[in-house]
Parts: sequence; C-alpha cells; structure tokens
Amino acid sequence: MDVRVTNVRKEFDRFPALHDVSLDIVSGELIALLGPSGSGKTTLLRLIAGLEVPTSGRVFFGNTDASEWSVQQRNIGFVFQHYALFRHMSILENVSFGLKVRPRSTRPPAGEIRRRALELLDLVQLSGLEKRYPNQLSGGQRQRVALARALAIEPAVLLLDEPFGALDAQVRRELRKWLREMHDRTGHTTVFVTHDQEEALELSDRLCVMSQGKIEQVGDPDTIYDTPGSPFVFGFIGESSQLPVTTAGGELRFDGQSIGLPADANAPANARLFFRPHDVDLVDSGPSLLGTVTASRRVGGTRRVELALDGGHHAEIDLPFDHAAIESSRIAFRPRRWQLFAAS
Ligand SMILES: Nc1ncnc2c1ncn2[C@@H]1O[C@H](COP(=O)(O)OP(=O)(O)O)[C@@H](O)[C@H]1O
Ligand SMILES: [Mg+2]
Repeated sequence: MDVRVTNVRKEFDRFPALHDVSLDIVSGELIALLGPSGSGKTTLLRLIAGLEVPTSGRVFFGNTDASEWSVQQRNIGFVFQHYALFRHMSILENVSFGLKVRPRSTRPPAGEIRRRALELLDLVQLSGLEKRYPNQLSGGQRQRVALARALAIEPAVLLLDEPFGALDAQVRRELRKWLREMHDRTGHTTVFVTHDQEEALELSDRLCVMSQGKIEQVGDPDTIYDTPGSPFVFGFIGESSQLPVTTAGGELRFDGQSIGLPADANAPANARLFFRPHDVDLVDSGPSLLGTVTASRRVGGTRRVELALDGGHHAEIDLPFDHAAIESSRIAFRPRRWQLFAAS
C-alpha cells in the first residue's frame, strides 16, 4: 500500500513535534525513519497508524484520504520497542489474537487461524515453541513473536518503532539481517523507526532522516551517505570533520591560507567544509591542511588520528594502522572528497 503524508503538522499543547512534514512511502518498500531522540519519528509513525490526529495536513492510503480512519480501518501492524506480549497467552494464542477478535463476518474459521499462526511462527523461525509462554522466551524471540502477531492480520502497512532497541548488540545485528530477509520474502510496506544509523543504512531501501520535527533528507542509503543534503545529515550519518573556510579566487582557504582545493564560482564566501576521515590524502608538498597529532586509536584495519588545527579547530583522519606518518607530530593532508555548506 502506498502511503502519502502531506504537509502534516502536529502540536502537543502548542509545542510543534512535527512541522510541515511530507513523505511518500512506496508500496512494498522498507523505509527507515532515522533521527536523534525527540526528532519526531514516533509521532510520525503514530500519525500514519491513526494513533494520533494531525493538527493540520492529511494522510493518504493509496489514493484515498485516510486522515479520519481509525487504526482498525487502516489495517496496521504495529511493533513497539517494549511490545508486551499477552503474558497469560501461549505464543500460538498471541499470534492468533488479531484474527480471533475480528467480527464474525471477517473472522476466518478456527482451523484456518491456527494454520496461519503456525505458518507465521515458521516464518519467524519459532516453530515448535507455540505452546510456550512469553516469559519462557528470550528478548529476541519475543520480538519475533510480536512481529508474527503484527503480520497475522495481513496488514496494509507494517510499522516498527525501534523494535530491537532493548536487545543487546549481537542479537540486534542478527535480527536486522533476519528482518531484511523476511521483508524480501513477504514484501510488506514497512516503516522502521531507529536512532541507529548503522541499522538504518544496512536495513532499508530508503532512509528518511529527521531532525527537530522536520525531514532533512530522503534517499537510498548510498545517496544519504555519499551526498548528504545538509550539515545536519553530514554530521549525523557516518564520521565527519568540519572546518570553517572562505572562498576567494576560485579556491578554498582555511585560516587565511590556501589548502589546495578548488571552489566553484557560486560557492558561498563563508562556508563549512565537511569531509570523512577515510576521504583524505596525505600531502608531501604544496598547499594543504596541517594538523598536530593529539591522539590516535585503532578502528578496525585503520588508525584514526585526531589532529589539532590552527584556530582551535579539530579534524579526524584515517591512516593505515602501521603508517609512518603517525610517528611524526605534524601531518599535512587534503580531503579527496568533500562538501561545502554555507556557514550558518
Ligand atoms: N504525547 C505527547 N505530549 C507532549 N509532547 C509529546 C508527546 N509525544 C511526543 N512529544 C514531544 O514531541 C517531540 C517528538 O517526540 P517523538 O516523536 O517521540 O520523537 P522520537 O521518536 O524521534 O524520539 C518530543 O519533543 C516529545 O517530547
Ligand atoms: Mg521514538
């Protein structure tokens, strides 16, 4: 099901949690809402579900204005971070619940409900555990039951709000891979909320990056990582350094000195230069940035070096872990890939 959010504003006691948010969710995609705590992710998800009413703006399901529809009419599957399963019900009863409570006219026969629930438990790889109770399962297993329960009603849209947030790192990584594989098999339109960029980049077809109740950028993971559309996105996704620069005579200057990078004619006179630690070359001669090593640490196969630059500025660059330059106290370097944003 396509879902279209248009110009939605949501206020809580006059406090705007969302400002003029518009988002097109494509049928069958897995889209992540990514942003820091308080950026409005849960509020947007609850508006799509029908658990909140927008202050202004509309929500469309397909071509139909669904703004006034209830949660049931929207046919939403929902999984929360702490989705309390029904403790007094077996796993099978939990998964069957959404179908059993349907009005008689749309309720499948008991045998069919049981068959479907067992099929879903097989899908989430919990076959054989249907007689257990929630307290007899691990946290990761419980969230898989919650997902099976959400899928049982054959939802038009599946909404997941930090579903793995309470689980430890190892289990999270496993469930992330598993969710992606399951999505590829079932093809439900899925909106996944997370504040974990690694999770969002690895899992989703597209990311919607949010900050302070606004959408900063929507795009596939490569686009978001390689061409961030704003200083916020550059700083929030991946590692980066930023330095204040000026543009004059077709080149960039840091602290008044040329650094050997060209500037477009239309580049802002005062700008911020953003680059990632691994997008840097060491320079033997000619104009460059110059930093004093203040610290270094091993990051996987490379060494991340912290540098102090003139004017109290800092930058981080990656070097091969055995690189001779680490022994020297001054390092001359130049970003190989970078982006400029107007100074605010
Ligand atoms: N029911 C509510 N009443 C008052 N303020 C709320 C309510 N729900 C959310 N907010 C506020 O709206 C903002 C966005 O919250 P939320 O959508 O939960 O962010 P996120 O999920 O990205 O952490 C926050 O400042 C939060 O305090
Ligand atoms: Mg939230």
